[in-house]
Amino acid sequence: MSFTIAIDGPAAAGKGTISKEVARIFGLAHLDTGLLYRATGARRLEGMSPIEAAEALRPEDLEREDLRSADVARAASEVAAIPEVRAALVDFQRAFARRQGGAVLDGRDIGTVICPEAEVKLYVTASDNIRANRRWRELVSKGATTSPEAVLADLRERDARDQARATAPLRPAVDAVLLDTSEMSIEDAVARACEIIRASRQD
Ligand code: DC
Repeated sequence: MSFTIAIDGPAAAGKGTISKEVARIFGLAHLDTGLLYRATGARRLEGMSPIEAAEALRPEDLEREDLRSADVARAASEVAAIPEVRAALVDFQRAFARRQGGAVLDGRDIGTVICPEAEVKLYVTASDNIRANRRWRELVSKGATTSPEAVLADLRERDARDQARATAPLRPAVDAVLLDTSEMSIEDAVARACEIIRASRQD
């Protein structure tokens, strides 16, 4: 039997950590779908056509060390607005979602486009300032020199592009449960996500 959990939301809302923990706790496979767009964006920065890059993507490309950089994040958000790029990445994501034993996928359009039939849909958000602060602290702890204001500007630009694009824009599915992590520790957010999942498993 396949059991799919779709976790969407804007950048730095906590969905990556929540998804990883939920997958570990429930024993499900996890796919961070942002990596598909990041790997495509990284190829784009190297001069490849984004559509060809998306069509040629291999699972090992998701392991590249440089996918977390701010330049790649921006390039990812840009290539993600190209309908042919999104189309080229659909089959891989759906095949992953149908895995035996179930899967957690996190991204922007999992509950709306990739897995509209997902058994559980979460939409994870937090206020802009809190998201920017979290991301800033994470970057600084890794040795980056940037300001919270610069990180906030970057996040807002990326969210605006992800929300405004015509194909599969970032938005909650009508049947998604909203999880605002602004006032929550990561432990509380994971615990709340687990409660929501357990409740829908009993339906
Ligand atoms: O989750 P992330 O920050 O790694 O995502 C990088 C970019 O990829 C994000 O700005 C938008 C895009 N993306 C998308 O359009 N659809 C997804 N399912 C996942 C990511």
